[in-house]
Amino acid sequence: MAFEKEDTDCIPCTSIFDEMIDRTGTLAIKTDYAERLHVPSDAIPMWVADMDFRAPACVNDAIAERARHGIYGYSDVSAQYRESVRNWYATRHAWNFDVCNIVTVPGVVFGIYTSIRALTRPGDAVLISRPVYYPFSRAIQDLDRVLVNSPLVLQNGRYEIDFDDLESKIATKHVKVYILCSPHNPVGRVWSREELERIADICIRHHVYLLSDEIHADFVFDGHRHLPIASLSPEIADLTITCTAPSKTFNLAGLQVSNLIISNRTIAQKVRDAIKRTGYSQPNVIGLIACQAAYEKGAPWLDALLSYIQANIDYTAERVALDLPGVRLIRPEGTYLLWLDMSGLELSPDEVKQKLENDCKVWFDHGSMFGPEGENFQRMNIACPRSLLERAMNQMKEGLYR
Ligand SMILES: Cc1ncc(COP(=O)(O)O)c(C=O)c1O
Repeated sequence: MAFEKEDTDCIPCTSIFDEMIDRTGTLAIKTDYAERLHVPSDAIPMWVADMDFRAPACVNDAIAERARHGIYGYSDVSAQYRESVRNWYATRHAWNFDVCNIVTVPGVVFGIYTSIRALTRPGDAVLISRPVYYPFSRAIQDLDRVLVNSPLVLQNGRYEIDFDDLESKIATKHVKVYILCSPHNPVGRVWSREELERIADICIRHHVYLLSDEIHADFVFDGHRHLPIASLSPEIADLTITCTAPSKTFNLAGLQVSNLIISNRTIAQKVRDAIKRTGYSQPNVIGLIACQAAYEKGAPWLDALLSYIQANIDYTAERVALDLPGVRLIRPEGTYLLWLDMSGLELSPDEVKQKLENDCKVWFDHGSMFGPEGENFQRMNIACPRSLLERAMNQMKEGLYR
């Protein structure tokens, strides 16, 4: 279905995002691999972070046009591609960088692995703030680096960085790299200017490289604003690799295209060398076409999507408060991932998982995946049609208290 301007005006009455699209049989890991993952096949999949919405028509049209050409030989980024990436960040995030700073990679996780290889050696310490996107821990462990954790602190329903702990661990454990998740998956924080300035100050004083995963940058709500940390000053930009992608924003994860932004030429060369050593060379041509089309023409679609997701968040918050005693929503400032505190149910984490999957027939990501700090939590992806969300909430109301 083509995206029409009128569609945005109709929200929340009817919207293109209300359409229920059957994803089964499309090789989507969200829907097609329940059995392999030991989850009942009729559980509503609200786990992995992709959306149940079609990409914008401008993207699908660009892909269709390229498919009509029909030749998919080795391809590379163009000047227009780089411009589209640069303009997106200049326009949406007031961040101006040189197009030469863009290093295109097949994914942010790939970018994280290669950046760690480029900046550190086995045995070096890399710091993360758990609970956090689990591939950060996996990358550090897979690459034989030492994982240092400075856990986030939950205070009055909001997660904060413990700056004293962060700085003391950086100093005493000789940390080389801090992997920041900004906005933060799974706790939904959009770090404020003051918080980012404190992080930047600590990294500069201790000469710690910053790997800033900003894949969720475009999903920010309730008057919050995403600030790319590298945009704060040339000094912090010089230590930072920023991971960006159109994949969350426009639902393109299967197309495998992401962009690292690196202003320090020496670091950029090290990352390029590390990428070369993986055997990866040319990017996926469909991914390039989709990324450029999305960044050039996808802004109105994204604005409509953000209103829809904001309404989904509000709806879920209301239903949790009304219908799910013992469950507490950590109100997100960004991302379409909700972090639910289940500790008030007074069940073990395993009992919660069993109840959700077998009695409620909903499929979430279990909090412990994000570190032991997340043990009593569940991560729920609400980037889906409202009717599906309603069903999930009804099934939880029914099944959780049986
Ligand atoms: C914080 C974060 N980084 C990276 C990714 C995945 O990025 P990619 O698919 O480009 O490797 C996700 C997906 O959920 C994410 O939440």
